[in-house]
Amino acid sequence: MLLQEEMQMFHLYIMFLPFVIPNITYNCMDLNLSGVPAEIPPSTQDLDLSFNPLESLMSNYFSTVPALRFLDLARCHIQTIADYAFEDLPNLITLILTANPLWHMGPSAFCGLTSLQRLVAVESNISSLADMPIGHLRTLQELNLGHNHVDSLKLPKYFSNLAFLQLLNLRSNRISSISRGDLDVLRGEKGTNLTLVLSINDIKSIQPGAFVGIHLHELSLRACFENSTVMKACIQGLGGLRVNRIVLGEFRNYARVEDFSNGLLDGLCQVQLQEFVLICFERFHNGTDTLFDCLVNASTIRLVNIYLNQVTAVPPSRVQQLECKQCKFPEVPATKLSFFKELRILRITESKYLTGFRQIFQDLPNLEVLDLSENRLSFYLCCSSYLDKTPKLKHLNLSFNSGISMGSGFNVEELVSLDFQHSRLNYLGSIPVFRSLRKLVYLDISYTSTQIESQYIFFGLESLQVLKMAGNSFKENNADNSFMNLTQLLTLDVSNCNLKQVSLSTFVSLHKLQELNISHNRLLTFDPLVYMPLQALTTLDFSNNQLTVLTEMALERLPCSLVHLDLSCNLFDCSCSYLSFLEWAKEHRDLLRSSEQMVCHHPEHVKNMGVLNFDLSSCQHSAILLATYVGMALMGTLCVFLIYKYYFNLYYGVVLLSGCRHYAERDDTYDAFVIHSSKDNEWVRKELVEALEGGVPPFHLCLHYRDFTPGVPITTSIIQEGFLSSRKVIAVISNHFLQSKWCSFEIEIAQSWQFVEGKAGLILIVLGDVNKALLRRRLGLSRYLQRNTYLEWKDKEINRHLFWRQLRTALLDGKT
Ligand SMILES: *[C@@H]1O[C@H](CO)[C@@H](O)[C@H](O)[C@H]1NC(C)=O
Ligand SMILES: *[C@@H]1O[C@H](CO)[C@@H](O)[C@H](O)[C@H]1NC(C)=O
Ligand SMILES: *[C@@H]1O[C@H](CO)[C@@H](O)[C@H](O)[C@H]1NC(C)=O
Ligand SMILES: *[C@@H]1O[C@H](CO)[C@@H](O)[C@H](O)[C@H]1NC(C)=O
Ligand SMILES: *[C@@H]1O[C@H](CO)[C@@H](O)[C@H](O)[C@H]1NC(C)=O
Ligand SMILES: *[C@@H]1O[C@H](CO)[C@@H](O)[C@H](O)[C@H]1NC(C)=O
Repeated sequence: MLLQEEMQMFHLYIMFLPFVIPNITYNCMDLNLSGVPAEIPPSTQDLDLSFNPLESLMSNYFSTVPALRFLDLARCHIQTIADYAFEDLPNLITLILTANPLWHMGPSAFCGLTSLQRLVAVESNISSLADMPIGHLRTLQELNLGHNHVDSLKLPKYFSNLAFLQLLNLRSNRISSISRGDLDVLRGEKGTNLTLVLSINDIKSIQPGAFVGIHLHELSLRACFENSTVMKACIQGLGGLRVNRIVLGEFRNYARVEDFSNGLLDGLCQVQLQEFVLICFERFHNGTDTLFDCLVNASTIRLVNIYLNQVTAVPPSRVQQLECKQCKFPEVPATKLSFFKELRILRITESKYLTGFRQIFQDLPNLEVLDLSENRLSFYLCCSSYLDKTPKLKHLNLSFNSGISMGSGFNVEELVSLDFQHSRLNYLGSIPVFRSLRKLVYLDISYTSTQIESQYIFFGLESLQVLKMAGNSFKENNADNSFMNLTQLLTLDVSNCNLKQVSLSTFVSLHKLQELNISHNRLLTFDPLVYMPLQALTTLDFSNNQLTVLTEMALERLPCSLVHLDLSCNLFDCSCSYLSFLEWAKEHRDLLRSSEQMVCHHPEHVKNMGVLNFDLSSCQHSAILLATYVGMALMGTLCVFLIYKYYFNLYYGVVLLSGCRHYAERDDTYDAFVIHSSKDNEWVRKELVEALEGGVPPFHLCLHYRDFTPGVPITTSIIQEGFLSSRKVIAVISNHFLQSKWCSFEIEIAQSWQFVEGKAGLILIVLGDVNKALLRRRLGLSRYLQRNTYLEWKDKEINRHLFWRQLRTALLDGKT
């Protein structure tokens, strides 16, 4: 039962662990396990079993996990390690035994660890190096036995087997004295590259000669001495040592010797050292006089967290590199430091006390690096006067200081890099202070409160490759011609510069530019012509501007070399009218950086939606919808137009059809309906009506000026009272008739009516000389002319007689 529960817990644990690589890494920390769980597969390489009550490690304890490379057994209550406990782990590189109350380890306990490089047994009740059965670990590089009870530095014989040992850490043990012979195994070839950490041991004595002939990589002796007398004596005991780096001093929260008394480091005169490091020293009376006395042969001096506020005497020395981090100088001790004639690198950094820079460096012919960053410096007339005597200066770092007023500029012609970032610069921006820096490659003036006033500010920087100037501002928020002639530039950072405009000429010279950061500005558009000169551009950061879209032209003209394009956090318009941009974005995911932050700003219903998640098909839908609307509108217009144009015809058609239906019941009230032009009224009234109505037999004519019911629409009257109530239609055709649209309409209706009735009821009377061709063409009558009665009105008497006879005959046709 219990086991089952345990296993469930174990599974859960594995499942929920964030950095578990299946079959390779297992974290089984603190699971109340008493052995290697059976579930762990043999392929496992990293196994953390810490905080489990394993108690004792029997032989072949890890036989189920032979591929292990890393094994953490910290705080597992292990007291006993039996012989061959690790025998099955030939690949193990790191073994952690920290915080186990070890009291019995078999002489073959570590057998089989043929690849072990790191053995960590901090706080493990180890009291003697001789008792450690590790002599056969020939591959060991690091042995960490900190916080144990080791009381002697007598290195056992087996150390001579550990040919690759680089670190022996005995920090915080009980070593109280180091005697001659203790380190014998390190003499000669062996141990030439060993770092020996003895910090926080209460060392009372070092027997002179103990280190003679020893060559170490590093010796660390921090917080080892109860007072400066003991310290001084012990350092004397180091005589004869050769060491690359020696580290002395205290810890910030554990300092024993506080006073730097004169002669404290005298013993170092007998030590051959490259690098001297002094950390955390509280009190220097006027005793700095001797600080450097025995360091004349060191090439590097590092002073960290030292309450040193002045440099007094500097003997002639070979020091090439001097670093003072968190020291207490109130001003740059340039005069005194100038005695380090060989100085190549000088760093005075991270001091909140360092505010002044008044002294001038005197003749430092080799100085190449001057790093005064992260202090509180504030000074005027930067920088020629200070650096006149450092002709080889290549790197100057004045970043993260308070306020620097530019003045004379620079005549350090060798300068390669110059860093002013986050220091307030006064009077830069309007004068070309960099004009003599022809070799400058790297310039950082980011966040220096500089307002670029003049296009000549970077005048003369003909080798410049990197220009970082984020967080400044430009005159009228326009970058204009500031980068003229910077033809070697590879990287330009103008982010956060409140830019609203970039001119066509801004980037004209930057043919080699590879990286442009123009993010965090207020640019509204991306004008392809502005960026066109940047034919080598690989990275463009245009994020955090106010871009709504990249036009099709811009997309086409993006530099071909572009690999990274950041357009995140702009104000994109995801309307369907910008579909081409939205499509482009989807197709170029690989190019876009932080694309998850490319979100739509407009229109409202897609606000904050990712541009790449935008549903393009929604635009196709709306395109169809739009097309439908437009189509419908067009058709509506067409209908209205057609109705307007063919109103009469339509209307007629309707009435005609209804007329057809009632045909049978219809009784004709008129013999003929006369259609004519109103201009022929007189002929109709005087000749036609008189002759036909007054003759024998009398014919009853329908005349619209006489017989139509007033108030009824004229078309209705024509159709209902004219055509439908008459047997025949007489059309009086004259030139007036042919010109009248109304008459044309009437005759058309007459023709259709005739067609519907199926009889020849149309009588055409042609008045005077009518253009026959026009008559045929305009009225399309030609084919009717044969079927219908066609009469010509002539003035001659004889013709008239014939005319009337023919007319009467035609009218009589069908009359009951
Ligand atoms: C751990 O396991 C042992 C038996 O292996 C059991 O007696 C003990 O109660 C367990 N402890 C916890 C905290 O589960
Ligand atoms: C430490 O080891 C010694 C034997 O070397 C043993 O007697 C002692 O009990 C151990 N201490 C602890 C706390 O286990
Ligand atoms: C010497 O040891 C240091 C670390 O202590 C290591 O970085 C360096 O590579 C070693 N050099 C040689 C030659 O083994
Ligand atoms: C200048 O110093 C600052 C702060 O120490 C550092 O971040 C920066 O990289 C340095 N500049 C150069 C060019 O090394
Ligand atoms: C650019 O170079 C030309 C020719 O060398 C020079 O006349 C002009 O003043 C320079 N302009 C700037 C802004 O550096
Ligand atoms: C551009 O500058 C901004 C802020 O100034 C920074 O956060 C961003 O990482 C830079 N982009 C690139 C590509 O370096």
